[in-house]
Amino acid sequence: MALGSESIHGMWSSRLMFILAAAGSAVGLGNIWRFPYVAGENGGGAFVLVYIGCIFLIGVPIMASEILMGRAGRQSPINTMRDLVAHSNANPLWQVIGWMGALAGFMILSFYSVIAGWAISYMLQMAAGDFTGGDAVQAQEAFGALTGDPVTVVGLHTVFMLLTMGIAARGVGAGLETTVRILMPALFFLLIVLVVYAGVTSGKFIEGLQFLFSFNVDKLTWNGVLIAMGQAFFTLSLGMGAIMAYGAYMPKDVSVLGTATMIALLDTAVALMSGMVIFPLVFANGLESSAGPGLMFVTLPLAFGHMTGGAFFGAIFFLLVTFAAITSSISLVEPAIAWLIERLKASRVKAALLVGGLAWLFGLGSAFSFNIWSDLHFVGDKTFFDVMDFTSNNILLPLGGVFIALFAGWAIDQEITRDQLAVSPRVYATWRFVTRFIAPAAVFVVFVLAFF
Ligand code: PFF
Repeated sequence: MALGSESIHGMWSSRLMFILAAAGSAVGLGNIWRFPYVAGENGGGAFVLVYIGCIFLIGVPIMASEILMGRAGRQSPINTMRDLVAHSNANPLWQVIGWMGALAGFMILSFYSVIAGWAISYMLQMAAGDFTGGDAVQAQEAFGALTGDPVTVVGLHTVFMLLTMGIAARGVGAGLETTVRILMPALFFLLIVLVVYAGVTSGKFIEGLQFLFSFNVDKLTWNGVLIAMGQAFFTLSLGMGAIMAYGAYMPKDVSVLGTATMIALLDTAVALMSGMVIFPLVFANGLESSAGPGLMFVTLPLAFGHMTGGAFFGAIFFLLVTFAAITSSISLVEPAIAWLIERLKASRVKAALLVGGLAWLFGLGSAFSFNIWSDLHFVGDKTFFDVMDFTSNNILLPLGGVFIALFAGWAIDQEITRDQLAVSPRVYATWRFVTRFIAPAAVFVVFVLAFF
């Protein structure tokens, strides 16, 4: 097998482009929508510290494993796994990593696209001044009216899916790279503008910072630790092969560990900065930091509605959310698209249409979970949306993460990891120890406790 040659799907043109693409995958709804509300629900400070610990102790070594495996195989995660297993004389069962990842991608995209669709709607509503001067009841009603309307929700889900497919169909260079080259700098710029806006106009910036960084252990429960770890996986796009697929297009002379650290730093910075936008606005308006998933869609519009320039900056905020979601969704479909191209020799356009069509269909279930199917419970009291969210985040991603760490640590030909990482013996030994023992054990604990 020719490990280490070029990918037939194309290559990132530079190290920076790989970083932007992988950071684009990592930075998404998980940072802006999910991180602030789970931090809010779990009391801030101590939770944030555990989260950051998980990112760097478990996340970075596993991300490095995904990147190096992708770059060694240079194909879709499914075929990369097949070749790595063959090359390493490993048990064929390891190939499940590739298949589970593709399945997780579909499941995540099914609800991701629906929530991203809401963000598009909020961007327009904000710009139209719909929330200016409104009260809490109105904000709650507006959210209910949007999510309760199946036609609008499916329409927005369709728009978002078409955007994703349009970009993916154009390929690695013209599609993915062009998109992240424009959207990622725009996203960082808009986020800085918003942090300054929140800091200057709210008068509660310090309170926001204190909430995020004060170490209040008493507020942190064991369950909060688990949520922090799950969030670390989701936010870094780990455990499903998205980063492996992107690693397949990475130039050979680029440092894997250094790049993984860089991506984790960027991702963490965006999550914390989102908190620095959201919490000062929430506190300035006397609102609750523990509002749950509605924090971004109910509490924040309410806050923007009472600030000077709120309509404009609110629209900017939801534009930023949409950008972040797009650069993540294109990474969710890349593993399946690359596999279809390799397997069926399909054109990229056909592959994108097929994957997008399927993901769109799956997504209908999530779109309907808030209206016509809201009483339909699939497992226990869980709606279709809840099942997708729970199964992918709490089962498939952690399980995929454990398998990837175990494969990279125990089963893969050591020559591959040594050659791909190309670090000093001491750094290599540290990476290998964490990947073999620490990361799997930690993820295993999350996995088991998420169940019981
Ligand atoms: N990392 C993305 C976020 O934080 O929103 C979500 C995600 C993207 C998860 C891609 C998994 C993935 F493969």
